[in-house]
Amino acid sequence: MVNRTAPSALPGTAPSGGAADGDTPGEHGRLWQLARATLDGNWEHDHTVPSRTLYPHQWSWDSAFVAIGWAHIRPDRAWSELTSLFRGQWRDGRVPHIVFNPVVPGGAYFPGSGFWATTEVEGTPPMATSGLVQPPVHALAAWHAYRRARSDEGRAALRRLYPGLVAQQRYLATRRDVGGGGLASIVHPWESGLDNSPAWDAPLSAVPAEAAVMRGYRRRDTVHAAPAHRPTDLDYARYVAIVTAYRAAGYRDEGLADRHPFLVECPLFNSAMGAAEQALARIAGEIGADPGPHRERAARITEAVLTRLYDPQTGTFHPRDLNTGRLTPARTVLGLAPLILPDLPARYVEAVLVEARSARFGLAVRMARPLPSHDRTAADFEPLRYWRGPTWMNVNWLVRQGLLGHGQDRLAAGLHASMIGLAATAGCHEYFHPDTGAGLGSPAFSWTAALLLDVLAD
Ligand code: SER
Repeated sequence: MVNRTAPSALPGTAPSGGAADGDTPGEHGRLWQLARATLDGNWEHDHTVPSRTLYPHQWSWDSAFVAIGWAHIRPDRAWSELTSLFRGQWRDGRVPHIVFNPVVPGGAYFPGSGFWATTEVEGTPPMATSGLVQPPVHALAAWHAYRRARSDEGRAALRRLYPGLVAQQRYLATRRDVGGGGLASIVHPWESGLDNSPAWDAPLSAVPAEAAVMRGYRRRDTVHAAPAHRPTDLDYARYVAIVTAYRAAGYRDEGLADRHPFLVECPLFNSAMGAAEQALARIAGEIGADPGPHRERAARITEAVLTRLYDPQTGTFHPRDLNTGRLTPARTVLGLAPLILPDLPARYVEAVLVEARSARFGLAVRMARPLPSHDRTAADFEPLRYWRGPTWMNVNWLVRQGLLGHGQDRLAAGLHASMIGLAATAGCHEYFHPDTGAGLGSPAFSWTAALLLDVLAD
């Protein structure tokens, strides 16, 4: 087992993009120990909670990012993390966005297991889960975890996980292809992972709900984080209304196009789905399965992302609202996500780089802060409010992977240095003020710690 400590595992020199705060070997060692302690503190028998206070159960895409971090220090936990999440997989292949821990008191999180009521639904696992999904970054995470900790144990874990990962993709590519164009639709902003992104303002405005709906429920998130840093009550009223509609239909996907109030093809979600097929091709090669079908599916997804989500007017990618047929107007960090598609054609890579390097996002060889979640120049940019401006480590990690994959090493180095600088300033917070770098949300957040380990190790 790999069980290394900081100094020998870390680079001693600053990345080529130039020194950010914290770019010294001693500082790297301190950050490594902080990240490790954060993950250890959030470990819960077979999975990692994203945060002890805000998110006390297991979350889907959190577990994927967290597994990448564990691979550096406790590979056994990386495999346990993914395995425990996939124990919650439904018979139709969906991997739920929350797997509830039965020993956590019901009132600790809203909406809790009673609200979802999935155990009464056919084809669900024995434990309580939500009925939604999240971006399918799990195959990519399994591959990165394996790459970081190659071993027989890792190969055996890949072999065990492979059928579930394939079933997850099949679910998204078939039952969720509501638009019929080869992309998966998300049925709730929570499925995007970027809950209150301005990208969802247009489609959400058509969802009937009033903030008063929330008087019937008790939000728990605003007990642990400042309300000004979280989605609004009106957002929550709509979130509840959309789940209620899906739940009333038994979480069935047949007929979604005729009845569901929120149906969107998201560039990040679908780019993750394409990158997952590329990762599955690699995993298949490693375990003696056939990589060919995965490569073919990856190429089809990339083609569909280009034809359905690229807007030549803005020169960037946007979500498509299936209820109106239109691309949503906001220019958010979601538009940069297709960079994670290894086969994104050069002229689209160029377009994404123009967007990323503009004043909207500020990507540079020498950058002060990592990418914000929303266009800095937009009138509705809110530097404190969750996904409406703050900087998040996971999205930056994905964009950095994309930059590396497309040979943009100098820009990737700039991002790398700024990510480490951010953690040096504020530690392992959930998200960060995009200008000052001040920590926001949960102060001990698992994916920030996990991805910090991963960037420190490069
Ligand atoms: N991100 C959501 C929350 O804030 C859940 O997926 O609770």
